[in-house]
Amino acid sequence: MTILVSGGAGFIGGNFVLDWIELQEETVINLDRLTYAGNLDTLKGLKGNNRHIFAHGDIGDREFVRELLAMHRPRAVINFAAESHVDRSIHGPGDFIQTNVVGTFNLLEAVRGYWDGLPDDEKQAFRFLHVSTDEVYGTLSKDDAPFNELNRYEPNSPYSASKAASDHLVRAWHHTYGLPVLTTNCSNNYGPYHFPEKLIPLVILNALSGKTLPIYGDGQQIRDWLYVRDHCSAIRRVLEAGTLGETYNVGGWNEKPNLDVVHAICAILDELRPKTGGGKYSDQITFVKDRPGHDRRYAIDAGKIERELGWKPQETFETGIRKTVEWYLANQDWVGNVTSGAYREWVGKQYEVQS
Ligand code: NAD
Ligand code: DAU
Repeated sequence: MTILVSGGAGFIGGNFVLDWIELQEETVINLDRLTYAGNLDTLKGLKGNNRHIFAHGDIGDREFVRELLAMHRPRAVINFAAESHVDRSIHGPGDFIQTNVVGTFNLLEAVRGYWDGLPDDEKQAFRFLHVSTDEVYGTLSKDDAPFNELNRYEPNSPYSASKAASDHLVRAWHHTYGLPVLTTNCSNNYGPYHFPEKLIPLVILNALSGKTLPIYGDGQQIRDWLYVRDHCSAIRRVLEAGTLGETYNVGGWNEKPNLDVVHAICAILDELRPKTGGGKYSDQITFVKDRPGHDRRYAIDAGKIERELGWKPQETFETGIRKTVEWYLANQDWVGNVTSGAYREWVGKQYEVQS
């Protein structure tokens, strides 16, 4: 048996592929365009493993995806591929519309054609799992109840609007064509192989290299944090037992203001890698201009996936963040490879104008 994963050279997709190969017996076809966020270094431990087949291509290239499906005949497609960084979507929304909306549409069409042609038993068993975000629900005030699956979609950034559009397409392909879909909406992931443009890896790397730790606005925006391997186990569970056409919110029950997250990282670094010459890493914290349209609070009610599928996260924020800092300290070669010219260009564009 075979599954096809799109975006499997990115942060979550990469962790998912590594876990899958370790825990399951099936082959993974990994379709990835290798944008700036895609990194084959994450998968280098799979070199020579014939259960991992990498296919360099775009989810929007319908003909390429059709051929891939016809050749490998997967029993499931799991769609991680997306433009995923909110700040980049503010600088340039076009790529987000292209990949997240038009790309998902083309992927759905290629998958529908393949699925239509399957024999009845394979057709019944087939699944298309779409990985999405809690950002589609918009923002919460401090006292609002966490997002559940019935919350209205109120996306506020070009990124979240493009993900919301993709969720609607997936839903419509189920209702109109009967495509057997599942959707997951997850909170902020963190953990190994996280590209250092996002808050947690950026803060770890900036702290270690003596740079400022940029906090947008007052740093009191709240996110729910989920260790990436917990997200991967949730996706495996939904794929295995989720009800067709349903959506499942996935979260860590770990709401934290950004400033607390940054202080937690600094405290672990103070302990594991004290600053040469004295002082504390938190001395590097700098408040910078806020993100335009910055959502104030995200929080996930992950009760449905627990009640219906028996899934809950294994890591607390305290255990997960320690593992993450330790991973970055032990994997400076991976970091060195991803912080190339293109990465430095982005950091220059985003922060030089801000601080
Ligand atoms: P990422 O940016 O780290 O990785 C995205 C991957 O998709 C990269 O490998 C990239 O090369 C690939 N890709 C981009 N465009 C493509 C295209 N047109 N065709 C094929 N491949 C393409 O993203 P991530 O953080 O791993 O997120 C994965 C998915 O999970 C996304 O759909 C994202 O919206 C969703 N999500 C992310 C988080 C999070 O905290 N990171 C939380 C909830 C949901
Ligand atoms: O909620 C799920 C979403 O989480 C995913 O859908 C996105 O793909 C993922 O990127 C993430 O979005 P965020 O915008 O929440 O993540 P980011 O790491 O960019 O920012 C986290 C918080 O930290 C946010 O409130 C902005 C703030 N921030 C971020 C950066 C990069 C800072 O204060 N300073 C920074 O330099």
